[in-house]
Amino acid sequence: MPSPRGGPSRARPPGSPPWRGGIKDDWPGYDLNLFTYPQHYSGDLEYVLIPHGIIVDRIERLAKDIMKDIGYCDLMVLCVLKGGYKFCADLVEHLKNISRNSDQFVSMKVDFIRLKSYRAFGSNRVSLITASWRPLSGSRSYGSLSKNDQSMGEMQIIGGEDLSTLAGKNVLIVEDVVGTGRTMRALLSSIRTYRPNMIKVASLLVKRTPRSDSFRPNYVGFEIPNLFVVGYALDYNEYFRDLNHICVINEHGKEKYRV
Ligand code: IMP
Ligand code: MG
Repeated sequence: MPSPRGGPSRARPPGSPPWRGGIKDDWPGYDLNLFTYPQHYSGDLEYVLIPHGIIVDRIERLAKDIMKDIGYCDLMVLCVLKGGYKFCADLVEHLKNISRNSDQFVSMKVDFIRLKSYRAFGSNRVSLITASWRPLSGSRSYGSLSKNDQSMGEMQIIGGEDLSTLAGKNVLIVEDVVGTGRTMRALLSSIRTYRPNMIKVASLLVKRTPRSDSFRPNYVGFEIPNLFVVGYALDYNEYFRDLNHICVINEHGKEKYRV
């Protein structure tokens, strides 16, 4: 289970209390009617897993942890679109606030990438084709990383500046959710070839899944059960990004927006 400062890879002092950032498998969630949400999603959602206010409060603390760890240096924040855009925007906002209001400050640049996915014929392997980093405007049409609720195979990085500009930089990758971890491992190994000075990964969510390759981000918002979740920019076939809370989609919703 990840530590509050971001990931189980960090040793926790013996005898320290259990980390409560993990949402348990039997957590029933919140009734949708306790909150407001877009009425066009009425009937498509099972329950609220994490309300928007809690997400934002957690991100505030993550920003503090990040500042404490790496706030002394210039930072290149690399937002993985589209799912990471809300998390990235709120995280950067909190990092800016801390910088403004204390002696600690961080100088930040923000860049955005997308990962194009392909279903590799006869293969489950994930790899990144990095030779063809191109501006979004010049790229071919691209699909989303997942189709329905399944991750897809091969991927390509699209957008952002030339990857070589990351050489010698301190990079913070900001991602929405780590499932199996294959996406992030592939992205990391690709970015490492450009020799940044440091790479850290912040993911708002990490799933407990038997398919996990045990990749753990340095900073984790919440560990969640193995459920398909939407909202706060996480999508199902491009729907639900306009939902503030992180919710569990129901079978009706899956059918309605299936492609
Ligand atoms: P991984 O390679 O299995 O770790 O998958 C990570 C990627 O799959 C994320 O960046 C998301 O784009 C997508 N993904 C995984 N789980 C979910 C989910 O529950 N909701 C929305 N997207 C998801
Ligand atoms: Mg993502």
